[in-house]
Amino acid sequence: MSLKLSKRLAKIVDMCENVDTIVDVGTDHGKVPITLVNLGIAKNVIAIDNKNGPLDICKRNAEIYIQNKDVSFRTLLSNGINDVPKNTETGIIITGIGFDNIKEIIKNINEYNFKYLILSPHTKITELIKFLSSINIQIKSQETVFEDDKYYYIIKATKGDQIVN
Ligand SMILES: C[S@@+](CC[C@H](N)C(=O)[O-])C[C@H]1O[C@@H](n2cnc3c(N)ncnc32)[C@H](O)[C@@H]1O
Repeated sequence: MSLKLSKRLAKIVDMCENVDTIVDVGTDHGKVPITLVNLGIAKNVIAIDNKNGPLDICKRNAEIYIQNKDVSFRTLLSNGINDVPKNTETGIIITGIGFDNIKEIIKNINEYNFKYLILSPHTKITELIKFLSSINIQIKSQETVFEDDKYYYIIKATKGDQIVN
């Protein structure tokens, strides 16, 4: 069985490249990290949400849809990236939440060994771009998706002194 992705979620998946561990903050249904492990983009996932309800749905989807049972798919009830190991190489995805929340989550992002960030705030995209620059995070690419009468902006970024493909 395979998961159906909306145009927006498919674009987020498209923008991810191979990495040791995918961290999906605000995972909700977990569709993005589940698809990423099924595609072999990562062998490990930390799917984070700060509410139990979404995490239960994520766990159920993982049981149904993950095809390779050798992958490590961990769900974590947590606020932002506080419980993410700092030394693990990660691709960190934070999409579908507001800018102020994203800003709070990534304020200490340079302490983490992330290869890339995928960010898509529901609000204030210009403020996010300015904030990334202020903490020396470099935007690598930006995509726009039109869905359900709305534009969604998705940013891929990395540390200021790194370039990823
Ligand atoms: C609208 S859903 C977005 C789901 C998915 N990321 C997407 O792009 O479709 C937002 C989810 O983020 C969670 N969330 C909001 N703030 C969070 C935080 N600070 N840490 C962890 N999860 C958070 C909510 O509980 C909710 O399940």
